[in-house]
Amino acid sequence: MEREVSDSDFRLFVKTVRQYSKYDFSDYSDKSLKRMVGKVIADKKTDINRLVRDISNYSDYLESIINKVTVNTTELFRDPSVWKFLRKKVLPGLKTWSTINIWHAGCSTGQEVYSMLILLNEAGLFDRARVIATDINSEVLKVARSGKYRYRFNKGYLENFDLVVGRSRDKSTGAANVPYSRYLDVDEERDIISIKPFLLEKPVFKKHDLVAGEVSYPGKFDLIICRNVVIYFNHSLQNRIFEMFCNNLHPGGILVIGSHETIASPVSDRFIRTGHAYKKPGIF
Ligand SMILES: C[S@@+](CC[C@H](N)C(=O)[O-])C[C@H]1O[C@@H](n2cnc3c(N)ncnc32)[C@H](O)[C@@H]1O
Repeated sequence: MEREVSDSDFRLFVKTVRQYSKYDFSDYSDKSLKRMVGKVIADKKTDINRLVRDISNYSDYLESIINKVTVNTTELFRDPSVWKFLRKKVLPGLKTWSTINIWHAGCSTGQEVYSMLILLNEAGLFDRARVIATDINSEVLKVARSGKYRYRFNKGYLENFDLVVGRSRDKSTGAANVPYSRYLDVDEERDIISIKPFLLEKPVFKKHDLVAGEVSYPGKFDLIICRNVVIYFNHSLQNRIFEMFCNNLHPGGILVIGSHETIASPVSDRFIRTGHAYKKPGIF
């Protein structure tokens, strides 16, 4: 259920959040955020006046509302064609780097992070990777750290795995060349898919707000993955974020954005587009 939120009520919400916290939603695109605020109002059986009153009085409450207004949809190997492209065209180019510094910005519950780690392992690059994964929502980061997902609801993960990693099946046994059991444990009875511990140990998951600027990290990145995050921002904020990503990439580094996203001019001039990836010019 959602409650219709008027423009003035929405502006009041954004203004109150900005006034009482470090979060600034002024440059989010209104449509999605407005819908989520309406959903919060309906779920909490409240109204805009009580919502902004409680936000201004209780910082914990404000944090809990931030966690509720973000859209966290994700999956393992979401958009398999993108992951196939990364496996075939991008990862081979990283083999000459002694360390591979990776930032997943807006990682949600972590499936994208584990997808990349699986590909890195298959490419023999796992040990060289340093991975930081960030999100504004502290609740999704808890799930990401646990690496546990519902099985029945997410059976598609295994299909995606087969499409991207498993490749062809053995004709006589029907088994995939790379079985998912190398990376995932499936407990059908308890309805859980668990990421294997060696993958869980690799990434550092950290709360970070992209609107506030760059993440604190010793050095620049070789790969930044930020998919389906800036679609919730207006064009000027999108450009600011892409510019910040460019400044935080090594020359030759790669930015991967969502398959329905593009980088607009003039920031697009700072990248060379190759398929689903944007490369910062320089030596690779
Ligand atoms: C739709 S999910 C995308 C997850 C994943 N990247 C994917 O494509 O499957 C968007 C994520 O961006 C996060 N997000 C939204 N605004 C953000 C911000 N200002 N800074 C960091 N993360 C943000 C949300 O909390 C959410 O987890």
